[in-house]
Amino acid sequence: MDEEEYKKRLSSNFKLFDDNSKKQAKEFLELCTYVHGKYDEDAGFQDLEKHVRELEKPSLDKGLKRDRLYYLALPPSVFGTVTAHLKKNNYPGDEGHAKVIIEKPFGHDLESSRVLQKAIAPVWTEDEVYRIDHYLGKEMVKNILALRFANQFFNASWNRQNIACVQISFKEPFGTEGRGGYFDEIGIIRDVMQNHLLQVLSLIAMERPVSFAPEDIRDEKVKVLKAIPPIELSQTILGQYDRSEDGAKPAYTDDETVPKGSKAVTFAALQLSINNDRWEGVPFILKAGKALDEAKVEIRIQFKDVAQGIFQNIARNELVLRIQPKEAIYLKMNAKYPGLGTRTVVTDLDLSYHRRYSDLKIPEAYEALILDALKGDHSNFVRDDELDVSWKIFTPLLHKIDSKDEDVKVEKYAYGSRGPASVNQFLADRGYVRDNTK
Ligand code: BG6
Repeated sequence: MDEEEYKKRLSSNFKLFDDNSKKQAKEFLELCTYVHGKYDEDAGFQDLEKHVRELEKPSLDKGLKRDRLYYLALPPSVFGTVTAHLKKNNYPGDEGHAKVIIEKPFGHDLESSRVLQKAIAPVWTEDEVYRIDHYLGKEMVKNILALRFANQFFNASWNRQNIACVQISFKEPFGTEGRGGYFDEIGIIRDVMQNHLLQVLSLIAMERPVSFAPEDIRDEKVKVLKAIPPIELSQTILGQYDRSEDGAKPAYTDDETVPKGSKAVTFAALQLSINNDRWEGVPFILKAGKALDEAKVEIRIQFKDVAQGIFQNIARNELVLRIQPKEAIYLKMNAKYPGLGTRTVVTDLDLSYHRRYSDLKIPEAYEALILDALKGDHSNFVRDDELDVSWKIFTPLLHKIDSKDEDVKVEKYAYGSRGPASVNQFLADRGYVRDNTK
């Protein structure tokens, strides 16, 4: 590509509403420039250096330093080479600071992730590396700590004495069409569960950090992840989408980019346990799937049933944090139906962001995280030991699935459905009440 072509590609993603947004888009494009080169040759990196130095001139004249942020959205196989070349050719040394943001996948399993770490670590310090997981930049995910630790009624009831089960679910209504080549190697567990959903889980389950300092937060996340044993195959439901019931939508394997007869997992429900005093015995269920009936990512925390007595057969309290679409927090509770009699109804205490904060623009996850990286705040980025321990939880299961052993069963489900038929029973066996409205 040349610069013009690059800018054309960029512009194709703009959503322009009015003259003002057109003006902003134009100003933005003027700030964008393009240099190309090969991953493994110095020449391209040297061109980049010349180019960046040119761009830095006005800032240096104002007394600023060469402070740079490199963002690598690359296949992991070239992370090591590219970071080494950047350090050699594009590192400002005493003249400023440099940071690198790295996009997942951070390896394929525990071993490959360690190889990757070893390639990057001698070259860039942990302090200079920002492993980005965009779920940590989502507004509702960032709200979890406030909700838990700034409200005494949640703080006091956030434990195995009061909580029956926790479900974190990710549903997408589209398949992997055209992206099958990438997805087939990865599968849904590596794509969104080992990273995005596990990050959400660690914020739900961790202890209160001693401060907002990035290392205090990350220390607590690592601690709780260490209390999670590796997931067992017997605690999973695996699925792959088939054609939709009306035949209009394709099966996963109909995609030309997917190898024939592929057993790749496009849906999974997994149970994790946390062996510590707060959570022992509480099932944490992660559920994720492509080609399902709706687009929704949410956390559902179901509280234990009240003791039967004067009220029988009533719904349980359930706290729902909807991450997307339309951020919301609602708490299902029972109240007496107004009027004569003692009948109860289930009602919601509801904080829907689009109604309450209709005049606010909630920042995009990447917007928030890139700003954090510019400021040097690591709180919402993944630390090396955190990555290691998250792979430990998933690697034995992933190896088992990759081995295609007979006991690895991948159930079909129709495109546009709720997932494999056995999911309801799987959830019920783990104490999750589906239609919690009794
Ligand atoms: C990415 C996955 O990390 O997250 C995609 O690779 C997935 O498969 C995406 O669709 C979901 O992100 P979001 O922000 O749209 O929920």
